[in-house]
Amino acid sequence: MARIARTAATGGDLDPAFLAWSSSFTIDRRLLEHDCEGSIAHVEGLRRAGLLTVDEAERLTSALTALPGQVAAGEVVLPDDEEDVHMAVESQLAAQLGAVAGKLHTGRSRNDQVATDLKLWARQALVVIERGIDRVLAAAAVWCERHGEVAMPAYTHRQVAIPVLARTWIGGALVEPLRRDRRLLLVVADELAESPLGAGAIAGTTLPIDAEQTASALGFAHGPRNAIDAVGSRDHALVLGFACNRIGMHLAQFSTDVVELTSDGLVRLGGAIAGGSSMMPHKRNPDLFELVRGQAALRHGELAGLLTLMHGLGSGYHRDLQHDKTLLFPCVDGVVGSLEMVALGLHHFELVADACRDALVAGDAVATDLCEALVASGMPFRDAYRRIGALVNETRGEGRRLAQLDAADLVRHGLDPALVDRLDPVAAARRRSR
Ligand code: ARG
Repeated sequence: MARIARTAATGGDLDPAFLAWSSSFTIDRRLLEHDCEGSIAHVEGLRRAGLLTVDEAERLTSALTALPGQVAAGEVVLPDDEEDVHMAVESQLAAQLGAVAGKLHTGRSRNDQVATDLKLWARQALVVIERGIDRVLAAAAVWCERHGEVAMPAYTHRQVAIPVLARTWIGGALVEPLRRDRRLLLVVADELAESPLGAGAIAGTTLPIDAEQTASALGFAHGPRNAIDAVGSRDHALVLGFACNRIGMHLAQFSTDVVELTSDGLVRLGGAIAGGSSMMPHKRNPDLFELVRGQAALRHGELAGLLTLMHGLGSGYHRDLQHDKTLLFPCVDGVVGSLEMVALGLHHFELVADACRDALVAGDAVATDLCEALVASGMPFRDAYRRIGALVNETRGEGRRLAQLDAADLVRHGLDPALVDRLDPVAAARRRSR
């Protein structure tokens, strides 16, 4: 059968090795559903323009509607020797419907087609990512019900700083960043407002197809504002890639907290998510969180790849753009997987309250609170700061910690014995979290 995008002017057949190497079908077959969705809207546009009869439009539409299901069920196997999914579909329709399939591509190019498909796919990806974030937030809420009131150290520079309740920690380490990421998805959605369909190869079409109508049929806010931009821009992919990166980075930062807390003995991991060692029988490693952290690095690579792919391209479509999917698909899949795993992980790690308390005591985490108690009773901050610094130093010199002092010790150090009720780190965490 004659190749779809070959004419007398093209210069004969493609070398089979080049065709196989250059085909994007193994990757973009994933766009099948969206490709058919876009084509169905296009068919309706052609019918309205009088370029297809009602009967032709119906035959094309019902074949396009059925195709994704037939492929999923294994009833239809798309030809795998075409350049991409768009051609595989057209070639399949030609086999099924005959000559009418040759009318489908009227007033359209794969350039506006693939740009449209990718945006439809990205719209779906946003829903999946949002659902992933919501699962993590729900798991964090459940985690808080069990562990939220445990007092633990907040760290600066990885040194014990101040006592907080665990709900404050997880709020800062995970919940608030992900809530912002959820809002960032709205910004991405905004980048998906324009339908590229109708932009054709580079400059639209002379045929009277209403691009605004096809845009609204596909759920876009409007059609192409500028055909050159519509086929050449991948800004939406970049922004989506960035959103995946930021989510991944937030999950990685949270993971580092968990890894370090585990290493310090403040967190205990459930066996369901902990890695073992093939040599050391005693190990219970935070593999899930380390892998999530590593995933974020992969996202950075994909985003850098996308940016680099765009770098130096002139306006309009270039075949380089075909690789956008090679980078964007794993970027989205990767972040969705990480969200799933963090949600799972949250059901399998707990804080060890006693170890947290020991860390608070050993780290003299109440020092700042003690200092502020002196300030509240009228002492200038710098004086209070130095007094408590000296107290910490002297107490440590005695091999003790602030939380181990009693009223008599405070008097011995020239301090108000009433400060004794400021020495308990657990009470300090609660006081701050009110
Ligand atoms: N497979 C191509 C891609 O993903 C489709 C567009 C091909 N356009 C072209 N002018 N060769 O970018």
